[in-house]
Amino acid sequence: MIKEKANINWNELKFSYLKTDYRYISFWKDGKWDEGKLTEDNYIRINEGSTVIHYGQGAFEGLKAFTQKNGSIGIFRPDMNAKRLQNTAKRILMAEVPEDKFIKACKDVVAANYKYIPPYGYDASFYIRPYEIGVGENLGVRPAPEYLFSVFGVPVGPYFKGGFNPVNMVVADYDRAAPKGTGHVKVGGNYASSLLPHQIAAEQGFADCIYLDPKENRYIEEVGAANFYGITKNGEFVTPKSGSILPSITRLSIMELCEKVLKIPVFEKPIDINSLDQFSEVGACGTAAVISPIGSITYKDKVFKFYKDGKEVGPITKKLYELLLSIQRGESDIFKEWIYIVD
Ligand code: PLP
Ligand code: COI
Repeated sequence: MIKEKANINWNELKFSYLKTDYRYISFWKDGKWDEGKLTEDNYIRINEGSTVIHYGQGAFEGLKAFTQKNGSIGIFRPDMNAKRLQNTAKRILMAEVPEDKFIKACKDVVAANYKYIPPYGYDASFYIRPYEIGVGENLGVRPAPEYLFSVFGVPVGPYFKGGFNPVNMVVADYDRAAPKGTGHVKVGGNYASSLLPHQIAAEQGFADCIYLDPKENRYIEEVGAANFYGITKNGEFVTPKSGSILPSITRLSIMELCEKVLKIPVFEKPIDINSLDQFSEVGACGTAAVISPIGSITYKDKVFKFYKDGKEVGPITKKLYELLLSIQRGESDIFKEWIYIVD
């Protein structure tokens, strides 16, 4: 294979779609998955009665590949995304994609799109977007007769404008998920319901909005596309405990980094919106968001400001960001098992 890179300005990348050369596609029918294949076609053709179109029977994942310090390419914790997609599939009655099939599909897409994988040393990565949808002839509200599983990938830069700098957020006046609904799984409908609150926040000049729990409207849930954490003035890492937020793989990873590397106590517990004064730093974490410091949170007529009046990145957030990236880029000797090398 010719190892050359596409003519892309890797420093200018945003979090936006770009057609890359190959994507993986596979179908489930009559109780089994076909072998799947790479294709250059970035359009899919599905039946007009497909459950994903009418009843939202569809889910996605997001993970990243990074060029490692030694030049190889590694994918960050694809096993965890495979398991989360299976968990989502169980909740909305889709066929489960086996873990090895999921990981191989991600690796194949990365290898086939070598020229789009940002080289080592840039603030960029290759975002992998697996998805699964209910397809086939159908009319009534029932699980689909067939499923499509596909994986594509795009080189991306920072999710929030301005990169690793504090952003301002506002508490949304809407719920993103119901208490026993689908907030804990990655179904498309959660994101459809977040579009309007996000737009309102953006129109007011905020980077994104923060949701409160849908039962009491009092405890922080998460950001539209990332989990929430805070560092208390006593140096503890605190993150919401809730059955209706997405279990973030980034959050799980930084919780391990806090406990095992930084030796910081970690607590998963409800965070009352009126108790934000306890934090010196707060942030959002996720695959796309990585670790994004939050400078201020506006709630009704109050504005809570964090590290250095919300203008600078706090020291723990900075340390976590550097640790996470050093692992993702193969610069570190710890947690090497999180990286799946693409041969
Ligand atoms: N919460 C929501 C609603 C998300 O969409 C995401 C992104 O995947 C996350 C949290 C972060 O999860 P992860 O770190 O696994 O990407
Ligand atoms: C991710 O971080 O992978 C997400 O799913 C966020 C996305 C909705 C942009």
